[in-house]
Amino acid sequence: MKVLVTGGLGYIGSHTVVELLENGDEVIIIDNLVNSKLEVLEKIKKITGKNATFYQYDLCDYSKVSEVFEKERPDAVIHFAGLKAVGESVSKPLTYYENNLLSTINLLKCMAKYNVKKIVFSSSATVYGKPKTLPIREDASLHTTNPYGTTKLMIENILTDLYNSDSSFDITILRYFNPIGSHKSGLLGENPNGIPNNLMPYVVRVARGELPVLNIFGDDYPTIDGTGVRDYIHVLDLAHGHILALNNKIHGLKIYNLGTGKGTSVLELVKMFEKVNNVKVNYQIVKRRDGDIAECYASSDKAKNELGFTCKYTLEDMCLDSYNYHDAN
Ligand code: WQD
Repeated sequence: MKVLVTGGLGYIGSHTVVELLENGDEVIIIDNLVNSKLEVLEKIKKITGKNATFYQYDLCDYSKVSEVFEKERPDAVIHFAGLKAVGESVSKPLTYYENNLLSTINLLKCMAKYNVKKIVFSSSATVYGKPKTLPIREDASLHTTNPYGTTKLMIENILTDLYNSDSSFDITILRYFNPIGSHKSGLLGENPNGIPNNLMPYVVRVARGELPVLNIFGDDYPTIDGTGVRDYIHVLDLAHGHILALNNKIHGLKIYNLGTGKGTSVLELVKMFEKVNNVKVNYQIVKRRDGDIAECYASSDKAKNELGFTCKYTLEDMCLDSYNYHDAN
């Protein structure tokens, strides 16, 4: 299959591209390198021995997206591209709405124009907001608490309306929980520019001595040890979930949670990280971060039953692989 992967040089996109190439699929990447690096293309080749075709284009430029479809005629699309920093979305909402929505609309218009009907969309557990019951199931109420999450929910609605207007589209929406970890080669991983927003890349930098201390945002939540609980999923399991979705035989509009179904607190993750890597992570408890919720973890039964999705990797793997990821830069 010839698959167009938007954001294919990003954290989750690059791990998915590796698996596509290893499966013998042909991969076309569109990535504007706003939150990724060109060198990832070489690392993908080093891992797989194969080339992906790369376009450094911005999906907000319709003419560029159309050019790629005209030339490449993909069979399917996996759509990762988008701005994804929660805090930044609060301070720059118009940037987030313009970028994430316009890029998606351009992509979908080109899919319709070139009769490309299969898409897998990278959504997020953030569309659930503060969950009323746990584990979170796909039919849980949806409520977003920041512009980033709202763009994800709006795109889910756009995809739903598109399907209702034309049921020849085959649409899979994947709601991720907290992806962490890295490729076993140590060549691909999460390497955000600047100070990391997310927990694991921050822990890695503290363990490496690149940052002085981990600030744990609150230990007064109603959780096992007072710190925030999340469903951490290995990025390799997440990437595999996209391959299962792409090759899924059920046609229509489908929504799946991709998580492990297990909640882990910040302190539990820090202790596991220290243990498996034999390192010390200095931390201090500070006040809660605005917008954070206490506890969030998935029911992935639907993905398991319909896609055959299961998680192969453990929290130990996630901590080992995250620390092992070394970036030449
Ligand atoms: C995890 C836990 C923090 C950093 C976000 C997005 C979500 C998705 C994943 C894109 C929380 C605590 C964190 C730190 C800390 N992104 N923490 N100190 O907020 O669950 O989810 O990233 O799709 O949409 O919302 O992930 O890694 O930021 O936080 O104590 O320096 O770690 O309070 O309990 P989050 P996170």
